[in-house]
Amino acid sequence: MSMHDDIKNVLVTEEELKAKVADLGAQISRDYAGKNLLLVSILKGAVVFMADLMRAVTIPCSIDFMVVSSYGGTNTQTTGLVKIVKDLDADLTGKDVLIVEDILDTGVTLSNLVPMLKMRNPSSVKICAILDKPTRRKADIQPDYEGFQVPDEFVVGYGLDYNEKYRNLPYVGVLKPHVYERA
Ligand code: PRP
Ligand code: MN
Ligand code: MG
Repeated sequence: MSMHDDIKNVLVTEEELKAKVADLGAQISRDYAGKNLLLVSILKGAVVFMADLMRAVTIPCSIDFMVVSSYGGTNTQTTGLVKIVKDLDADLTGKDVLIVEDILDTGVTLSNLVPMLKMRNPSSVKICAILDKPTRRKADIQPDYEGFQVPDEFVVGYGLDYNEKYRNLPYVGVLKPHVYERA
């Protein structure tokens, strides 16, 4: 029994991810040349993309990690919906912060987090997301750097989970409905 048996179809292959990450790394290296780049990964989903992207960046940079949890509200309130579970170690003063995310879905997480980080006097705060699900957006936010747009399906892999599993799939795929329907 393999994880792959639970995948209905592949949306983004390992090769496509690799090529896109190389492009993004090159673009970021040009845009942030001479700046004070700090890559901030939001655990856990962004761990795979972070590990790949940081090695595709060819300029000096630092890295840091954050854990946030959503309060899971269903309203459209734009503040107070995100709790910082593990904060950054880095002082953001004068840093050019690039948030590294696996997916921008409703946008609630980052639309709350970005203003919180901007209060810490960074030089800039931008977003790099390898996946974007624009049809699900509730908040007015979009990635500054984006990999692939995906349809509103149950996507897993390359860091994205279902019930904490499938994060280690090397591609992005759609889960077979029976996997979540039997749960
Ligand atoms: C997922 C994903 C993003 C966020 C996007 O994380 O990794 O961080 O949701 O959703 P949004 O745009 O609707 O706010 P999740 O909270 O599932 O935690 P995980 O990264 O540990 O899986
Ligand atoms: Mn996440
Ligand atoms: Mg998750």
